[in-house]
Amino acid sequence: MFNTVEELIKSLTETFGPSGEEETVRTMIANLVRDRADRVFEDALGNLYAVKESNRPRIMISAHMDEIGVMVTNIDENGFLRIAPLGGVNPIMLLGQRIRFKNGLTGTVYHEKFKELKELDWSKLYADIGQRDAAAAENNVKIGDSACLAQPFNNLPGGRCLAKAMDDRVGCAVLIETLRRLPERLPQEVCFVFSIQEELGLRGAKTAAYSYEPDFGIAVDVTLVGDTPKAPTMAVSLGQGPAIKVKDSSILCHPRVRQLMVETAENNNISHQLEVLERGGTDAGAIHLSREGVPSGAISIPCRYVHSPSEMIDLKDVLNAVELMVKLLTKEWPFSEESNVF
Ligand code: CO
Ligand code: ZN
Repeated sequence: MFNTVEELIKSLTETFGPSGEEETVRTMIANLVRDRADRVFEDALGNLYAVKESNRPRIMISAHMDEIGVMVTNIDENGFLRIAPLGGVNPIMLLGQRIRFKNGLTGTVYHEKFKELKELDWSKLYADIGQRDAAAAENNVKIGDSACLAQPFNNLPGGRCLAKAMDDRVGCAVLIETLRRLPERLPQEVCFVFSIQEELGLRGAKTAAYSYEPDFGIAVDVTLVGDTPKAPTMAVSLGQGPAIKVKDSSILCHPRVRQLMVETAENNNISHQLEVLERGGTDAGAIHLSREGVPSGAISIPCRYVHSPSEMIDLKDVLNAVELMVKLLTKEWPFSEESNVF
């Protein structure tokens, strides 16, 4: 167990888990939630579920375990690797960065000669793991192996933190901490899903929502901010509270779910903001389109430099998100089994 949410985030973000390689993260989370839920299990694709059983409605809350990364596509005779993105990775972000494979092997990413920055695409990038030839390289990595970024967690004065994979281990931390603080018995059933392969297109949440058959869905993920120098205009800032999502490119959040979140925050004096994200999606996008439709919303942790090796969050936003989740799940949601019109 971890003494603070900060220690939990440090441990989660420093763990290896690019899309498709969520196993280490999944094992860690399963051990943390096992005693807090009535049922903890995995499905065939690798989603992890922790259910607190109760009456309907069933609420599915999803945070993704995977992080962006790269995959080895080729190994040349001099032992250099070619790589392709796993998820939305900008090649510029990788220059001079360390990457780390599951077996602990570390390498750096560099570029061939180019004249103008706009020529810098994946074909110009290679990874160097310090091996003299193909045979030596192949002793350490294989084609199809994945690597994540290799940055440590750092705590900054004033309560902000930097890490790789804040997207979305900070969401996983919110779910774990919420589960720890919830009372024994809830007025409705809640299923926490730690999903796979979100970065490749909300894949795990899609099958998880199909199998769990929730009446409502909530995603907890990071969102972009507009509070850095000459950032694109966006009314979300670090430290101003969790953002209650209105829309992103995967979902228009159900107005009643959003309203329930806003009311809960207001009634409990929890600082919050509203989020309109013009690009990007979350697990809620997959959940709300499953089966006959699931009214869904999302709570987002404001995050600077999303999909870079140094994603920054404010711990206050994380604690307020936990507070909001606990209040939201302990109150009785309006629901009738006869009619799913919410
Ligand atoms: Co992401
Ligand atoms: Zn995410």
